[in-house]
Amino acid sequence: MPKDQPQLMPAAHPAAAASGESLPVNAVEVSGLGKVYKGSGRTAAKRALDDVGLEIPRGSLFGLLGPNGAGKSTLINILAGLVTKTEGTAKIWGYDIDRQTRQARAAIGVVPQELNIDPFFTPRELLELQAGLYGVPPRERKTMEILDILGLADKAEAYTRTLSGGMRRRLMVAKAMVHNPPVLVLDEPTAGVDIELRQQLWGRVRDLNALGTTILLTTHYLEEAEELCDEIAIINHGRVIACEPTPTLLRRLDSKELQVHLCQPLERVPEALQPFEPELSGDHLVFRYRTSQSPVADILDALSRSGVRVQDIRTEEADLEDIFLQLTRGAHRQSMGAGVTPSDAPLDKARA
Ligand SMILES: Nc1ncnc2c1ncn2[C@@H]1O[C@H](COP(=O)(O)OP(=O)(O)OP(=O)(O)O)[C@@H](O)[C@H]1O
Ligand SMILES: [Mg+2]
Repeated sequence: MPKDQPQLMPAAHPAAAASGESLPVNAVEVSGLGKVYKGSGRTAAKRALDDVGLEIPRGSLFGLLGPNGAGKSTLINILAGLVTKTEGTAKIWGYDIDRQTRQARAAIGVVPQELNIDPFFTPRELLELQAGLYGVPPRERKTMEILDILGLADKAEAYTRTLSGGMRRRLMVAKAMVHNPPVLVLDEPTAGVDIELRQQLWGRVRDLNALGTTILLTTHYLEEAEELCDEIAIINHGRVIACEPTPTLLRRLDSKELQVHLCQPLERVPEALQPFEPELSGDHLVFRYRTSQSPVADILDALSRSGVRVQDIRTEEADLEDIFLQLTRGAHRQSMGAGVTPSDAPLDKARA
C-alpha cells in the first residue's frame, strides 16, 4: 500500500491494534486554531475561532458545549476538512490535517449538524455509496452490521424519505461509520430528537465508545453533556473557556442551596438567621452555602430558634447549567470589553 494511502482499517480496530501499530495518546489535537470567515458585501468578517487548543484523549467521549454561534461547528468542520482554518494546527489520530490530509480524513467520521440525505436511496444503498466514496472494497464493507448497530436493520430497504427524523439522524451516524474511523464526530446529534429517541441514541453512542471509538460531540443540551461525556470543553465566542473531566467541572462550584418555604411571608430576615445571609422573598428563604462546609444543621437550628414556621424544605445542587452560566457570563463581560459581539441567549435547560 502506498505510504499516503488512507488507513481504512484504523488503529482503533482490534486487528490493527494487534498488529502492533502504536496508538496515539490523543485522538484529536488542535493548537492555536483560528478561523476568520471573510466578509462579503454587507457582511463584516467574523472571527469564529480564536486560539483554540484542545486535546481529546483516545477512547474518550468528549463534549464540546457552547451557545449558538460559539464556533462548535466551525471547529468540527475544520477537522472534517469542510472549512479551511486561518491559523493553527490540527491532528487527527496523529495525522496533521495539512500535511497528511488523506490519513487524517480517513481517521474521522463526521455527522454534520444539518441532515442531508438523499430521500430516494435506501439506507443500504446510501451506506454502500458512501463506502464506495471512501474506497472501501465490497468484501470489507459492513453495511448490514452498521445498520444493525444503529437499530436500522429492518429499514435497510426502505426509502429514506419514509424514515422518521430520529431514524434519519441514526442513518447519518451510520453513514459516518462506513470507513470504520477511530474518531467519530457528532454535531448536535440529538437536536430535534424526542426524549425516548435521544435516550436510544445516547445508548448507541455509549456502545460505539465502549467498542473503542473516540467520540467528539457538540451539544446545547447540558443534560446530554453531563450524562454522556467524560470530559467537557466549553466554548464561547470562539474561545475555549473550560476543559475538564466532567466530575471536576461539576465540583467547581462546590455550592448548594437550601430552600425554605415558610408558612407565612416575612418582612425581614429574623436575627437568628442573619449570619447565614439568606435571600428572602415573601415566604421563601434561600440559603446558599459551600457543600464542603455543610452548615445545614446550624441553619436548621437557627430556623427553629427564630420561631418561623416552616412548610417545606428542599436542597438544590449546582449543576452544569450554573457552571456554564457563571463561566460564559464572565467571558461575556470580558469579550464585551474586547469588542466582540455577544452570541445569542445562553443555554436554556427548558429546551432539553
Ligand atoms: N460560512 C460562514 N460564513 C460566515 N460566517 C460564518 C459561517 N459559518 C459560521 N459563521 C459564523 O461563525 C460563528 C460560529 O458559527 P458556528 O456555526 O461555528 O457556531 P456553532 O457553535 O456551531 O453554533 P450553533 O450552536 O448555532 O450550531 C457564528 O457567528 C456564525 O455566524
Ligand atoms: Mg453548530
